[in-house]
Amino acid sequence: MDKVKLGHNAFTYPMPMTLVGAVVDGKPNFMAVGWVSRVNARPPMIAVALGSHHTNAGIHEHGEFSVNIPDIELLKAVDYCGLVSGKRQDKSGVFELFYGDLAHAPMIQACPLTMECRLVQAVQLPTNTVFIGEIVEAFIGEQYLTDGKPDIQKLRPFTLTMPDNRYWAVGDQVGRAWGSGRDFTT
Ligand SMILES: Cc1cc2nc3c(=O)[nH]c(=O)nc-3n(C[C@H](O)[C@H](O)[C@H](O)COP(=O)(O)O)c2cc1C
Repeated sequence: MDKVKLGHNAFTYPMPMTLVGAVVDGKPNFMAVGWVSRVNARPPMIAVALGSHHTNAGIHEHGEFSVNIPDIELLKAVDYCGLVSGKRQDKSGVFELFYGDLAHAPMIQACPLTMECRLVQAVQLPTNTVFIGEIVEAFIGEQYLTDGKPDIQKLRPFTLTMPDNRYWAVGDQVGRAWGSGRDFTT
């Protein structure tokens, strides 16, 4: 297959869209985040790569944050939280909130799946800080479960592509992880 060079500003496809929450100056604040990944198995840890944003101050101050998985219905509100900074506009009233065990990890009622996280490490990179958090608890609406497990078709999350800056719905199931490769032959 012929290849052309794309340059080095490349991304993975797709990226999950999330809202990261923290309490900044006493107020809940949320930002849109596509650079997020599970990074440790036991204990479960998740990492978010944040540029220099208002949210960062709250995570540094309290050592707690939330990762919220929105559904397609929330797309405009998510984009708003990615366009507007809490430095200039109070975003504390955008969503109805709830809390779990952590007092400074505000979670969004309307998001099908939410996680409260305790900060484990903040790794400073040239432009971004990678906040690594241990997932203390996760919350899900019962209607999003099938056989006790989160069901992506019910969750209806959406994804991000860069650098074309588009949102996408999730498509069809195409295989079984730890299964489809069993009858692979070379
Ligand atoms: C689709 C989308 C994805 C984004 N992903 C990230 C991200 O992964 N990391 C980041 O630092 N900022 C990301 N942003 C930018 C922040 O969400 C944005 O700057 C936000 O206004 C910061 O809010 P705050 O200043 O209230 O913390 C994203 C924005 C959008 C619209």
